[in-house]
Amino acid sequence: MSALIDFANKLLARVDIVEVVGEYVPLKRAGQNYRGLCPFHREKTPSFNVSPTKQIFHCFGCGVGGDAIRFIMRIEHLEWVDALKLLAQKHGIPLPEFERRTADKAIQDAKTKLYEVNKLACEFYAANLQKALKDPKHPATQYLAKRKIDAELATRFSLGLAPTGWTDFTEAAKRAGFEPETVVGAGLAIRHSESGRVYDRFRNRIIFPICDSLGRPVAFGARVYAPDAAPDEPKYINSPETAIYRKGQVLYGLHLAKDSIVREGYALLMEGYLDVIRAHQFGFTHAVATCGTALTEEQGGTLKKLARRVLFAYDGDEAGQKAMLRGCEVLLDYELGIQIVVLPDPHDPDSYLVEYGTEPFRQLIAKSRDFFEFFLDKAIERFGSGTVAAKVECVRFLLPILRRVANPVARLGYVKLAAMRFNLEEQALLRLLRAKQGKTSDEDTRAIVQNASLPPPNHERLLLKLVVEREEWRNLLLERIRPEQLAMNRVRKWFERCRTLHADGKLLGWSSLLGECGDALEEDARFLREIAFMEGEPLDQLTIDRVLSFVAFLERSYYHREIIPEYCAILGDLFPNDPEGETWHQLLEELTEHHPALREALLLAQRTSVLRMLPNFGH
Ligand code: UTP
Ligand code: MN
Repeated sequence: MSALIDFANKLLARVDIVEVVGEYVPLKRAGQNYRGLCPFHREKTPSFNVSPTKQIFHCFGCGVGGDAIRFIMRIEHLEWVDALKLLAQKHGIPLPEFERRTADKAIQDAKTKLYEVNKLACEFYAANLQKALKDPKHPATQYLAKRKIDAELATRFSLGLAPTGWTDFTEAAKRAGFEPETVVGAGLAIRHSESGRVYDRFRNRIIFPICDSLGRPVAFGARVYAPDAAPDEPKYINSPETAIYRKGQVLYGLHLAKDSIVREGYALLMEGYLDVIRAHQFGFTHAVATCGTALTEEQGGTLKKLARRVLFAYDGDEAGQKAMLRGCEVLLDYELGIQIVVLPDPHDPDSYLVEYGTEPFRQLIAKSRDFFEFFLDKAIERFGSGTVAAKVECVRFLLPILRRVANPVARLGYVKLAAMRFNLEEQALLRLLRAKQGKTSDEDTRAIVQNASLPPPNHERLLLKLVVEREEWRNLLLERIRPEQLAMNRVRKWFERCRTLHADGKLLGWSSLLGECGDALEEDARFLREIAFMEGEPLDQLTIDRVLSFVAFLERSYYHREIIPEYCAILGDLFPNDPEGETWHQLLEELTEHHPALREALLLAQRTSVLRMLPNFGH
């Protein structure tokens, strides 16, 4: 390691930080130093300083600073070692032997060749496209015009055109000194298994270079465009995986998007090459795409390093939703906040932007929905929510993502929401959630859902009916339920009235209540009559257990409605950084010490056992 630090010091002595920074930031001399607009935060007057004598940079606006390696780390989003390597490479300073020996030199050299041949291919296809664009009648020119991709955009994304011949690129690579093996190894050519002949993989297609985060082309996507293409031609042909390319590792457009992603605080994740290109064209330069595969953990990790949130902007169709759902599972493991930009069917970001433009798309982003609420709606749309079978389907659909929500406050909020929508007890959902994946059979799920199905939401009316009609439970109910626990104003009012009447020994069935209404309270009278006529299970067959669980349910509804949301909101404000484990516990303790009201709420909520998942504190 110290050898590496030695090398870093030597490297720093050889490069000039003004030059290194100057490559990214326009600098002006200001006294002894150079000054410019800070690339790490938004500013209008320059507070970013570079000192040629001290060889350091510092921003008085946002406080970042350091040596040239630190600068490269920040601006290229690299680890220290990789920033060191990049800086060395940029200045043509060879890495010392230790680097070479640890990595197998032969493999390194082979990889270097692949990067080089890809670079050549990129330039070759781009030059070929530029040539074609000079001819307005060329089908590629006409195709790009039809897709509204102008020369500037084509250049920005290094788009190219593969010629129609079978060996145009292979020949060009040979002339440039590359072995056929290298061209095949890069996936740019294919060796025919019988004849042994080598021929170009991409022919007569629009080329989309796929770059790594440093902007080096590592693979290519190639789209059919010719009006006379055979109908069974695949739309895209992509590079195979090679020594320098794994599909799941790269995000299309990342090298152009990473700074914007950091600046915006979130990434716009799309499906198609064209979606990304279009988004950038319309100013959404924080858009990237997976390369025709499901989102992978590596891609999740990459996004996590740049931002705290990801917005999916996938096709609105079934396939798009499925892909988003799987993608959410991956991103949740990284504790990334996830929202979904809902595109009206059958649009994708590309077609939407072409048709409606920047501002409407910005609106869609502003209206993007929390991923869980989105999938909850989708589940209900697909399976319904009225029957036990439907609820089981929905729960099975949602459990995998719910299980992966790490933040307990967020998770509880989602459980609460789902319980409300399915008219299920939260506890049952929490129980399913806690059970290890695979351990809950469909049978268990069904049983739990069935038992947890709540009475229809007119339970408060039922309370009033019980109080008025069933003398045997009247005392119990009037004592145990506090009026403020009831959500319906009318029920609360008449429940309180029942209390007074009962205390005076004047509660004698519906007539005592209806008698109080008179003409002025016609609405109330109708409300009471409806309850009187309400039908359901016979009230004279209730057991004490049923009545007690009814009381418990009313209490829980109250906590869920009034107390927990408030508590979630407070915690959400206070802990934007999702503390976990020890810190979480400790913070909770400190917090409740200073917020007696919150403490009270938590204790109440904990008693209802919904919050058993939270750590125990301060009894
Ligand atoms: P789309 O079919 O949405 O393509 O596939 P697109 O990029 O939007 O292209 P247009 O608008 O139809 O011209 C989304 C992504 O899936 C991968 C590509 O990465 C594509 O960008 N894909 C699609 C393939 O790899 N091969 C295919 O045959 C189709
Ligand atoms: Mn498309």
